[in-house]
Amino acid sequence: MSDNIESHLSENRIFKPSKEFSKNARIKSMAQYKRMHKESIEKPGVFWGREAKELTWQKKWTKALDWKAPYAKWFVGGKLNVCENCVDRHLTNGRANKAAIIWEGEPGESRTLTYRQLHREVCQFANVLLAQGIKPKDRVLIYMPMVPEAVIAMLACARIGAVHSVVFGGFSAESIVDRLSDCKAKAVITADGGYRRGGVVPLKANVDEALKKYKAVDTVIVHQRIGDKIPMKRGRDVYWHDEAARVPAKHVAKAFDSEHPLFILYTSGSTGKPKGILHTSGGYLTGTYSTCKYIFDMQDDDVYWCTADVGWVTGHSYITYGPLANGVTQVMYEGAPNHPDFGRFWDIVEKYGVTIFYTAPTAIRAFIKAGDQFPDSRDLSSLRLLGTVGEPINPEAWMWYHEKIGGGRCPIVDTWWQTETGAIMISPLPGCTPTKPGTATLPFFGVDAAILDETGEECAPNEGGKLVIRKPWPSMLRSIYGDKKRYRDTYWNDYKGMYTAGDGARTDRQGNFWIVGRLDDVLNVSGHRLGTAEVESALVEHKTVAESAVVGRPHEIKGQGVVAFVTVKGNVKTSEALAKELRNHVGKVIGAIAKPDEIYFTPSLPKTRSGKIMRRLLKELVATGEVSGNITTLEDYSVIADLQKNLKK
Ligand code: PRX
Repeated sequence: MSDNIESHLSENRIFKPSKEFSKNARIKSMAQYKRMHKESIEKPGVFWGREAKELTWQKKWTKALDWKAPYAKWFVGGKLNVCENCVDRHLTNGRANKAAIIWEGEPGESRTLTYRQLHREVCQFANVLLAQGIKPKDRVLIYMPMVPEAVIAMLACARIGAVHSVVFGGFSAESIVDRLSDCKAKAVITADGGYRRGGVVPLKANVDEALKKYKAVDTVIVHQRIGDKIPMKRGRDVYWHDEAARVPAKHVAKAFDSEHPLFILYTSGSTGKPKGILHTSGGYLTGTYSTCKYIFDMQDDDVYWCTADVGWVTGHSYITYGPLANGVTQVMYEGAPNHPDFGRFWDIVEKYGVTIFYTAPTAIRAFIKAGDQFPDSRDLSSLRLLGTVGEPINPEAWMWYHEKIGGGRCPIVDTWWQTETGAIMISPLPGCTPTKPGTATLPFFGVDAAILDETGEECAPNEGGKLVIRKPWPSMLRSIYGDKKRYRDTYWNDYKGMYTAGDGARTDRQGNFWIVGRLDDVLNVSGHRLGTAEVESALVEHKTVAESAVVGRPHEIKGQGVVAFVTVKGNVKTSEALAKELRNHVGKVIGAIAKPDEIYFTPSLPKTRSGKIMRRLLKELVATGEVSGNITTLEDYSVIADLQKNLKK
């Protein structure tokens, strides 16, 4: 099997949920989980049909699943409005005056929107979009800070059948251009800025820069978050509040087909061009609704907080759609976890009485480093359930989270999933699954996960292989926007009719899944996917660079750091200043998360005789300082010796 897959962990600590937690949880025993899982695999239509029926459909489907690999249609013939399910339906089920979103800005202000108020805002903004001429299936790019208006904008698009594509506020103007031109967006929704670590992120200025290159956007709607005077282009830019004042706050949600496109979200792959992952309506909503209900065990009196940004899939599925479809009260926070210090998250938990808390291992490692005094001095007793997502959690971080944040009493759900899967796929169910630090444990309902070797045989316990999903599931991606071939080649080519996740994994003797990491040239930096090819192409765009190779190296906080090897053009002099300039250049082309932590200049890169860069050697070199594997295919051996010397300096 591939040398990427190796597993060293043998974790024997087992944590079972308390009797009290299990008693009140939705799934109370392993027997219940096994029974339901069996049904969900053997009779997916029955299982998912029951889940979907808990939502509001304006027209019932005729067939639960139509599967012609690799294309799935769920709830065929059914019609629903996703926004109606997240908002309107709570006006008549007793939740109208319940807080939907409790928001806290980084400077400290807070704002609460009840479901009724959220409904009003969403309807009004839907009317703003309609007045701007946005039609069903039009693409709308959203580039917003973490404010309720980001969620309102997404919901309003869904309400009128427009397709949103949210771009993370930390991405650069050039990243906006790439995404705009790929999805051919008609409108952009942004803000004058957002607060982050005490400063202002100039969102509208980035949009302005992007629109100098991509000119097919007719409308830019600007939410005023900061209030500073900013340039507004006549005939194109309008303020959200001005437009809202002109339209009624009433809007009746029309139903769309279950397979109507809901959103496109770009994510990194192994080429330089991000993939526009396409999700549709009925299946996606059912998947996010159901995972929230069972995995986060959402109850009516919970206060749920997911710390992700709406620019990532976690913010789509576990801030906007899943939690609101469940009618839960959630906290939303605008800013950085360490502003003004590392106590901020714990202040928020204490202040609003958060009961369910969902974050990333990279954040947990940063908290561990900052010191126990921050959580120790806050009252975290409201918490009852903790979750993690984005990368494998190292057992020490798991234990710290369990003890320091969860007070030893809260189950931890380590949730494995991807932008492509739409919803959580492998995770403990908090009321029944015995957990071990470092494993995402068992497949969720309807998920037929397996680990296969190169020949397609299922691996034995503890044998590393490729993680696949053998059957379609409701929230699965439907395609890569505008590129069916890439969709088939990327996900469906390894084994017939099966989805390949791109992750290496193993199972243990109890059937728990241990995710080892990506098998392709994708890094996981602070829980975010980053294609090495994207960073490489950003580097070679710079006038001084001839060639580059980018690899990941283990990083204490970020999980993986970015290391770039750069060959400059003939007459260019290398220097610290140039390295700094290149780092900033990558920041400008992609965004700050992609800036290389280290840049090494080298006269040549290790290549095979056919000219392929041997990234495997570079990876090993940066991780261990040595190269031990097979180097017989290397064209020029002296390159490695030179690099070794260079790295030691
Ligand atoms: O490698 C896996 C890792 O993150 C990748 C998906 O990244 P993205 O699409 O950006 O979505 C992140 C949020 C869902 C996966 O292929 N990953 C995600 N969750 C876990 C994980 N690795 C191990 N354990 C997890 N719980």
